[in-house]
Amino acid sequence: MTTKIPVGILGATGIVGQRFVQMLEHHPWFEVAWLAASDRSEGRAYGEAARWKLKTPIPSRVAEMRVAPATTEGAPKVIFAALDASIAAELEPRFAEAGCAVVTNSSALRMQSDVPLVIPEINPDHIKLLECQAWRKKSGGFVVTNPNCSAIGLVMALGPLERAFGLDTVMAVTMHAVSGAGYPGVASLDILGNVIPYIAKEEEKMEEETRKLLGRLNGSGIVMGSFDMSAQCNRVAVEDGHTESVAVKLKRKAKPEEIIAKWNEFRSLPQEMRLPSAPEQPVRYVTPRDRPQPRFDADCGNGMTTTVGRLRPCGVLDWKFTALSHNTIRGAAGAALLNAELLKVQGYLE
Ligand SMILES: NC(=O)c1ccc[n+]([C@@H]2O[C@H](COP(=O)([O-])OP(=O)(O)OC[C@H]3O[C@@H](n4cnc5c(N)ncnc54)[C@H](OP(=O)(O)O)[C@@H]3O)[C@@H](O)[C@H]2O)c1
Repeated sequence: MTTKIPVGILGATGIVGQRFVQMLEHHPWFEVAWLAASDRSEGRAYGEAARWKLKTPIPSRVAEMRVAPATTEGAPKVIFAALDASIAAELEPRFAEAGCAVVTNSSALRMQSDVPLVIPEINPDHIKLLECQAWRKKSGGFVVTNPNCSAIGLVMALGPLERAFGLDTVMAVTMHAVSGAGYPGVASLDILGNVIPYIAKEEEKMEEETRKLLGRLNGSGIVMGSFDMSAQCNRVAVEDGHTESVAVKLKRKAKPEEIIAKWNEFRSLPQEMRLPSAPEQPVRYVTPRDRPQPRFDADCGNGMTTTVGRLRPCGVLDWKFTALSHNTIRGAAGAALLNAELLKVQGYLE
C-alpha cells in the first residue's frame, strides 16, 4: 500500500475550497491533512465553518477537522490555494518562502514572469519556469498557477486550432455563471432576470492569460502568443458553467470537418500519462445546433472536458463557435489538481 501525499487547502471554506475538498475525497495520490481560512473560520470544525454548497455531502473525516490559521506553521508541503487575489498576493509568497509547493487558483501571481501559468494539456513545458523562482532556489518552495475560469475554456478550444492552423485573431464574449463570483457572490436581486455586462478585471485577465498560455517557453521567460485578442465578459443567472461565443481568424485555411476533428482527436500529456483527474477527452464537439448548454454539458468528463459546438462561418473573421467549461472544476479546483498531478509525475513534489 502506498502512502498518500498530505496536502493543505488555503481558503478551504470558499466555493473553490469546497471543490478541492470534494475532488480530493477519493484521490489516489493526495489526502487532505490541513485546512485554513480567515479568522471567521479559524478554530471551528470545517463542517460548521464552511457553508457547504455542493451537491455531494461533506466528507465526514474532513467535516470534523479544525480550520487552522492561514500561517505556515504546521502546514503540509503541498498547498492548494483558493484565496481572494489581494490576500493571495500576501500569503502565497509566504508559503513558497517556507518551502511549500503552492498550486493556486488566484490571479495574484499568474502574470509574474517567473510564475508558470499552466494547463497540462496545452503548455505542460511551462512548468519548468518554476526553476527560475527565488523561493525555489532558497527553500525549494514555488508557486504554480492555473488560469482564470473563462480563459481556460477558451484556451482548451483554441489550443488544438493554434497547433494545427495557427491563430491570427480571437474575439470572445462570455456568459459567466454566478458561482464564479464565490459565495455569497452576486446578490440575487442583481442577477435574477438580469445580465451584468461587467466583471472587474476579467476581460484583461482573459486577454493576457490566453496569450501567456499559448506563448512559447524561451529559457527563463515566455514569449507571448502573437495573435490579436478581444474579450467581453457578462455575468448571467446560471449556477455553474461559463459559456463563450468565440470568433477566430486562423493563419492557415481549414475546413470545418478538419477543425472538428482537431478538437475531438486532441489528446495530450495528461491523457498519455493517465493523470488521475485528466478527462479521457479534453475537448469534445457536439452536433445538436442548440448545444453546448451549461445544464447539460458543464459536468462532462467530471467537469474537466470543454464542450464546443455550433461551428459555422463568421462574416468578419473565419469561423465562430460556442465553448463551455465548468468554472469551479476545470476553471478552478480541477485545474489546480491536474497541475499538482503533473508536478508529481515530474518529480517536483518529492
Ligand atoms: N469561483 C470560481 O469559479 C473561481 C474560478 C477560478 C478562480 N477563482 C479564484 O479562486 C479564489 C477563491 O474564489 P472563491 O470563489 O472560492 O471565493 P470565496 O467563496 O469568496 O472564498 C474565499 C476563501 O478565502 C478565505 N479567506 C478570506 N479572507 C481570508 C484571509 N484574510 N485569510 C485567509 N483566508 C481568507 C475565505 O475564508 P472564510 O470562509 O473564513 O471567510 C474562503 O475560504 C479567488 O482568487 C478567485 O478569483 C474562483
